[in-house]
Amino acid sequence: MESQELLSLCRRRGFLWPAYDIYGGLAGFYDYGPLGASLKHNIEAHWRRLYVFDEGLQELVCPLIAPEPVFKASGHLDAFADMYVECKGCGESHRADHLAEGLVDNPEAISEEELGRILDEKAVKCPLCKGDLTAPRRFNLMFKTAIGAGSAKPGYMRPETAQGMFVNFSQIYRHGREKLPVGAVQLGRAFRNEISPRQGLVRLREFHQMEAEIFFHPERKTWPRYDGVKSHVLPLAPNGAAVTDMSLEDAVASKTIINEALAYFMWLTYRFALDIGLNPKRIRFRQHERNEMAHYAADCWDLEAETAYGWVELVGIADRGCYDVQAHLRHSGADLTAFERFEQPREITREVISPRFDVMGKLFKGDTKALAEKLIEMAPDAVRGKDEVAIEVNGDSFTVPSSCYEIIDRTEKASGEKFVPHVIEPSYGVDRILYAVLEHAYSMKDEYVTLSLEGLVAPFKAGVFPLMSRDGLDEVAQELHESLMSNGIAAHYDESGSIGRRYARMDEVGTPCCVTVDYRTMEDGTVTLRNRDTKEQVRLSRNEVVETVRKIAEGTHRSPSDALDGMKVV
Ligand code: GLY
Repeated sequence: MESQELLSLCRRRGFLWPAYDIYGGLAGFYDYGPLGASLKHNIEAHWRRLYVFDEGLQELVCPLIAPEPVFKASGHLDAFADMYVECKGCGESHRADHLAEGLVDNPEAISEEELGRILDEKAVKCPLCKGDLTAPRRFNLMFKTAIGAGSAKPGYMRPETAQGMFVNFSQIYRHGREKLPVGAVQLGRAFRNEISPRQGLVRLREFHQMEAEIFFHPERKTWPRYDGVKSHVLPLAPNGAAVTDMSLEDAVASKTIINEALAYFMWLTYRFALDIGLNPKRIRFRQHERNEMAHYAADCWDLEAETAYGWVELVGIADRGCYDVQAHLRHSGADLTAFERFEQPREITREVISPRFDVMGKLFKGDTKALAEKLIEMAPDAVRGKDEVAIEVNGDSFTVPSSCYEIIDRTEKASGEKFVPHVIEPSYGVDRILYAVLEHAYSMKDEYVTLSLEGLVAPFKAGVFPLMSRDGLDEVAQELHESLMSNGIAAHYDESGSIGRRYARMDEVGTPCCVTVDYRTMEDGTVTLRNRDTKEQVRLSRNEVVETVRKIAEGTHRSPSDALDGMKVV
């Protein structure tokens, strides 16, 4: 299917369209119209139901802008970059690694020089005008901004929601009663100044994420519900190999998936994907190859969906090790550790910071004691390898050189041990998911378009029509519409055009069923309920409409036919 067909339906029926259209559009930015906003909301609501209500993760809402030290620590300032070339003829920028696809394995993982050499050797030209290209250069993908006036501080639009959760580890841990595993989620916008976004919703510069960061003891990466699902099967394409169906437990036993926690959240992702209507024959988990992995990841699997753009990553599920928390601990000096109590006190040797009072006394005189106390509280990793550390005491800032302290081993009886937690991160791209849901639901037969959206995500759960807009049929239909709406079930009232046209309009926007009030309704109180996918109709009492449509809307039935099981087709 051409993505253009679907995108034109989306524009025509109010799902989505390129933003700032009246000014010629802006690549990488989209608006959601009423149906798209509702579809997006329904996808997010189901995700929240699984991750927050079912799994008990804590939802956070953090700022979109963060100051520079956050991204210095996370590695984004130094490593979150793509390579680009410019056309010397038309001036257009292109992803250099995309131009080298098929010419070398994993072009995104090689150096600028190497990539430049390959593009030169193969005489690669501008794909738009065949002009000559500049040498590849690196470009940081974060949008930079200034915080405040005058001597403003640099700030960045967050490129992922994840960092808001890492910097808040201590809060999350405390709210989780200081037990692991514990996790947080965040749903919201993220920003990446993509070099040349030309793939509709698949590559946006401003996009929506749903991310979970789940913190583990490094040696116990499992999840309480793992045993309940471990016999389920996932379509896995490990490390460049073809897809095979494998149970979670076999995948973990063969080290195809490195731990039970990663396997569990892959399974949850699969379940989510099926719940929202992705076609099981058109999705797979692909493992990242080592040189493709993000700078923070120890292992990563993508849930991919087959679309008009090829296989597209919808969700990345990564074991980020202790990379992020360790990095923020080191850069901020905050004690972002968890604590595990031993059954019996044990003698343990650990590293501590030991202030050198003789050196400090000379430099800091009366402030020495307070500064030494702060130093002792800091994690050794926060000072290791640095020439100096900045410390605040009573509102004053001090720069303490490394000659003032040393890292030493101390052996003592301890009731427990501090450690930096490890993180498993399922990271979902909402816009791509929404696009794949639309594509997998779309079919056209003899020019007739049907979007077979699951009731759970469909913008309207039912269309409500009077057969004729007279003789009181319209009043009864309006009452039915209102009773659905007042029960929180989104429904669409329509009395214009032929009944066939009205059904077609609902089929085209994915409405699972339509309720029609006809002359028999006025005699016996029954209405027809039409199934979008089979086009069959059943008659039921108007009093049963709300509960029947509710079942379809809640997705407890995978298609309208299931909810209508046992009802007589008319
Ligand atoms: N947090 C992972 C990502 O945004 O790709």
